[in-house]
This record gives sequence, structure tokens and C-alpha cells, in this order.
Amino acid sequence: MSDILERDRRHVWHPFTQHASERDPVVVTRAQGASLFDEEGNELLDLISSWWTCVHGHAHPALVETLHTQAQTLEHVMFAGFTHAPAANLSFELSRRLPGDLNRVFFTDNGSSSVEVALKLAYQYHRNKGDMGRSAFMALDGAYHGDTLGAMSLGRGSNFFTLYEGLMCDVHLVPNAPVWDGCDDIEEREADALKALADTLDRHGKTTAALIIEPMMQGASGFRFARAPFVRKMSEMAREAGLLVIYDEVATGFGRTGALFACEKVGFVPDIVCLSKGLTAGVLPMAVTVARDPVFEAFLSDTFDTALAHGHTFTANPLACAVALMSLELFDTERTLEKVAHIEARHREQLAALRDHPRAERPRAQGPVLAFELSGSEGHYKTDDGERVRDWYLKNGLNIRPLGPTVYLMPPYCITDNELSRAYAGMFEGMNSL
Ligand SMILES: Cc1ncc(COP(=O)(O)O)c(C=O)c1O
Repeated sequence: MSDILERDRRHVWHPFTQHASERDPVVVTRAQGASLFDEEGNELLDLISSWWTCVHGHAHPALVETLHTQAQTLEHVMFAGFTHAPAANLSFELSRRLPGDLNRVFFTDNGSSSVEVALKLAYQYHRNKGDMGRSAFMALDGAYHGDTLGAMSLGRGSNFFTLYEGLMCDVHLVPNAPVWDGCDDIEEREADALKALADTLDRHGKTTAALIIEPMMQGASGFRFARAPFVRKMSEMAREAGLLVIYDEVATGFGRTGALFACEKVGFVPDIVCLSKGLTAGVLPMAVTVARDPVFEAFLSDTFDTALAHGHTFTANPLACAVALMSLELFDTERTLEKVAHIEARHREQLAALRDHPRAERPRAQGPVLAFELSGSEGHYKTDDGERVRDWYLKNGLNIRPLGPTVYLMPPYCITDNELSRAYAGMFEGMNSL
């Protein structure tokens, strides 16, 4: 065993890991483009973009250069009472690219925190406007919004956090209506879900601050896609009932549904948007919660009482902001969304074979995501088949990490056609090995 593994075994506590039984982690020594390299120099194709972050691939020269230059100029400064060009320019560029009047950017460090901020904004928005009775939230069944207390409460329908029920805040769950290639009952399920939302709004609409949605795609609960008119309708119904609408685009932002932001596909301007993961292209941890003008305006008065009492030490770190800004520029200069469209077209070519495969169910593709379930492998987060096929993939040079029974690919957008072909061949071979 290498020294690194030895020290890791003794001292590191890994996320979402049962240390008593899980295999040793892979020691990664470097990464380039769509590939990771381990201690022995073995290559692993990073087909899940390192937890969905590195949109342009690893070690992109422009991002590395930007980080280097920014580190020599200003590495950090407190963000209360101070500002700097990378934060101001990034806020401008995000506002310019987001639809409508989503113009006000609040910085945090990770996706869960961006969701906590969204909850506090929504709760306080109503109070600042004199409506003191809205302290609950609505979320979709199966949603995942992070693992801090508020975010866990919203994600209680994902089954990740049952143990922590006692710590959770008041959340009303409404059904979702996932869609996949060839499903024939989607209209019916959407109608049922909308009816359930209408009932929940009737009962709890006046005491609820906001509805939160992962638009177009629920990520961590198994890449469950939704149809745009359905998501739009839910959003409109919530707004009509006086709730704010929060889109958690931590996973869907930066091309993950084919558009830069999923809200563009939905055709709805939410009141608040959460972004992280692809924001810094996987280089540094950062998140933002972006609010529409009327939300921000509700916090303005001549007393601190209506201000948002929130802020983290590393808020708007200049290194992360500079890299995020360069990443946005790359979306333009490298025509990144065209690369995403190409990946989607390649994914779609796999759907027929997946439909015919005895171990694959509910195949689907959207943007750079290809997903399906392993048939006969019900369960959640970790299933026997999921873990076995994951081991096979790792041994065969592929970083594919099923979520329970759901196998998915979400490669960095720099992936080449050859690499994609390798990924598909391996994906099927791994399934055949089960
Ligand atoms: C939709 C969504 N929201 C929030 C989060 C939490 O982000 P983080 O892990 O950075 O706290 C995730 C993480 O997967 C996510 O997929």
C-alpha cells in the first residue's frame, strides 16, 4: 500500500462513505482533459466530471493561467465592506447571461450553502414585506438540494437523510413526474402531480415561503428528467399562490441540460437561482444565489433588521471568481454549448441499444447526460449491482459511479469522439459482466 493510502486509511474521513466496508479510494495524482491518472500512471476516463464540476475538462490551460495570474494579484480579501474586480465582473456576466431581472448575486462556497441562502432569502422576503406567516417550504419528491440542515429538509424525499428527520424544518413534498425515452404515461403522471401541487397549495400556500425545484433534471436522486411545460406550470402555480420560486441549478447550470441554464429551457424566470459545481469549472469551491430585482429591493430599508444576516469567511474569493469569469468566457470562445449538443447527439445514438439491453431500463439523454437504471436492481444510493459494476468500470479505466441502480455518464465537454466511443463500449461491457 502506498504512503498516501496508508495515511488516508488512518486519518481521513471521506464523504458519504461507510469506512468499515468500502474499498480503498483511488489515489489520483494528476488530471488532464477528460482523464484522471492514478499513482501507477493508469488512466481513468472521468465520465462524471468529478462530481459534475469540471465542465471544460481538467487543467484547462486558460483556467490554470487565470488562477496563476490572480494568485499573484489578489488572493483573498474580506467581502463585507470590500469588493474587487473578479467578483463585480463575475456578477455582471452572470446577470447578463441569466434571463430576466436575475441581477443580484450573493456569494457562498458550496451548493448546499447556496440553497440555505435561498431559503433565508425567501423566508425573510415575505417578512420584510409584512407577511409573517410563511415559514414552510415546498419541494419535489426525490429532490436533492444538499446536506446542510435546510437543504436536507428539502431533500427528505430523496431518502438520503431519514436519520436526521428530527432536525428538519417544515417542508411539504409534492410529487414529480419523471420522463424517459419511450415512456407512455407521462401526461397522466404530470396531470396527477399538478393536481397534487394544486391541493398542497390550497392547504399550505399561505404559510409557505417558496417552492424549490431542480429544473429539468433531478440529479442526485437518479437523473430524473422532466418536461419543460410541466416544470413551467408548477412554477407558475406556485407564483400565483404567492410563493417565491427557487430553481436549484447547482447541478443543471453551465450546460448540464443542453442550455447554459435550465431555466432557459423551462422558459420561466425564477425569483432565485442557486449555482455552484460548474460555476468555477471544478477548479475551486464557490457558489452563488442570484435574486431578481424585486427580491433584493425587499431587503432595503434604513435599518439592518431587513438586511440579510448571512456571509462566509471566504465569500467571493477572488481566485474562484476570476476562474469562474474565465470559464464563462470559454463558453463563448470555445463554443462550448455546441460541444454539449454534439455529446447529446452521440448519447442519443446509444438509446436504441440501451432500450434493447436486458439489464437497462428507462434510458434517457439530455444535454451531456446519458442515464438508465439497472433492471432488477431496486434501491437507493448504493446497490449491490451498482457497486459491482462500478468496480468493473474502475478496473477497466472508467470513472462511472452509479447512483443506486442509476448508471449515468456526464463527461467533461472536452471529451473526444474516441473517448466517448471507449466510454460507451465500456458502459455496455460492464453491464454484460453483471
Ligand atoms: C441540485 C443540487 N443542489 C445542491 C447540491 C449540494 O451541493 P454541494 O455538494 O456543493 O453542497 C447538489 C449536490 O450534488 C445538487 O445536486
